[in-house]
Amino acid sequence: MPAGTEPPALSVLRWAEPPEGPVLVLLDQTRLPVEEVELVCTDVPALVRAIQTLAVRGAPLLGIAGGYGVALAAARGYDVAEATGLLEQARPTAVNLGYGVRRVARVYWAALEKGLGADQAAGAALAEARVLHREDAAASGRMARHGLALLEELLPGGGHQLLTHCNSGALVSGGEGTAFAVALQAHRAGRLRRLWVDETRPLLQGARLTAYEAARNGMAYSLLTDNAAGSLFAAGEVDAVLIGADRIAADGSVANKVGSYPLAVLAKYHHVPFIVVAPVTTVDLTTADGQAITVEQRSGREVTEFTPPHAVSPDGAAGGLLVAPLGTPAYNPAFDITPPELITAIVTDEGVISPVTGVGLAELCARSSQVTIS
Ligand code: MRU
Repeated sequence: MPAGTEPPALSVLRWAEPPEGPVLVLLDQTRLPVEEVELVCTDVPALVRAIQTLAVRGAPLLGIAGGYGVALAAARGYDVAEATGLLEQARPTAVNLGYGVRRVARVYWAALEKGLGADQAAGAALAEARVLHREDAAASGRMARHGLALLEELLPGGGHQLLTHCNSGALVSGGEGTAFAVALQAHRAGRLRRLWVDETRPLLQGARLTAYEAARNGMAYSLLTDNAAGSLFAAGEVDAVLIGADRIAADGSVANKVGSYPLAVLAKYHHVPFIVVAPVTTVDLTTADGQAITVEQRSGREVTEFTPPHAVSPDGAAGGLLVAPLGTPAYNPAFDITPPELITAIVTDEGVISPVTGVGLAELCARSSQVTIS
C-alpha cells in the first residue's frame, strides 16, 4: 500500500456490553500474523492470563488494559482491591500497567467515598479507563510528529533506513504506537527508505507483529535475525535506531525488550542516532536508575523450545519443539536496560529530551499535563 493510502485502524482492545455482562475484547496477539482472532475477557483472572501470555502486551496498551481491568472488576461486582493487586502484579517491568490500574482504581474509590453507589462508581471507573485510552491515542500522534521532526533535524534529506526492535506500533497503543509510529510518519511523509525489523527472539514480536504492521501499512521493510544487526551497521545501512520503552528511570535509563541495549552499543560505535520513543506515562521518577528497575524473567522454555507463542503459558508449561537438550538451563530476561549515555534522544508526547539527563526528564514531567499516580 503506497504512502497516502491507509489501512483500517486495528481494533486492538475494546469494551463491549453483550447481554451476559460487560467484557474486554482483545485482539489476541499470540495468534498474529497467522490469524486475527479476538479474545474475550469476562473477568480479571482471564485478563491477567492474557497479559502474562502476551495476548495483550506493550507498555502503553498494558496501561490501558489494566485500567479497563479495574473497570471490569467494578462492573462485574468483583473485589476491586483484589483485582487491582492481581493486575498490577501481572508483569513487573512496564510502568504503564500499574499506572493505568491505579489511576482507574483511584477514581473508583473516590466515587465510593463521595457516597455514590457501586454502579455509579463502576461507571466512573469505566469513564476514566476510556479517558486513558483516548489520551494514549492522542499521545501517539504527538510522538509521531515530534519524532519525525527530530529525524529531519538529525538526518536532513530523508531516505531514512531505520532499525527497530520488538513491536511498538498500533498493537501496543490506543493510537499508532510509539517508535513504530515515528517510522510510519516518515513513511507517510515519503522519507522512509526502509524499516529494518529485528525478529526479536525468543517470542518474535518483531517478526510476527512489527512485520505484520509494516506490511499492512505498505511500508518498505526487511526482517533480520537479531544477530544480523551488527553487520548491517558495519555496512552503513542503518541511519537511526528507533525503539520504545517499558520504563524510563529518573536518570534516563531505559528498560525495553531484551536486545535493545546491544543495539545501543552498536549505534554508539557506528555513530548512529539511538532514539527512544515513549509517552510521558512511561517515565517513572520514583525509580532512581536502571539498576532499580525490575526486569521480568520468563520461562527458559521460551528459549530452549520453539513454541508457537499462543501455546506458551506464564509458567512455560506448554511444550514445543526442542532446540536444546532436554533440561538445558536458560537465561531469559524479557527486557534489558540501556543507560542514558547511549541514548541520543528520548521522544515523548510532551517534547524531545536530548541529551538525556535526569534534570531534563524531571522538567519534562513537571510541565506534563499527565496525572501523576503513585
Ligand atoms: O514483552 P512485550 O512484548 O510486552 O515487550 C514490549 C516491548 O518491549 C516494547 O518495545 C515496549 O513495550 C515499548 S513499545 C510501547
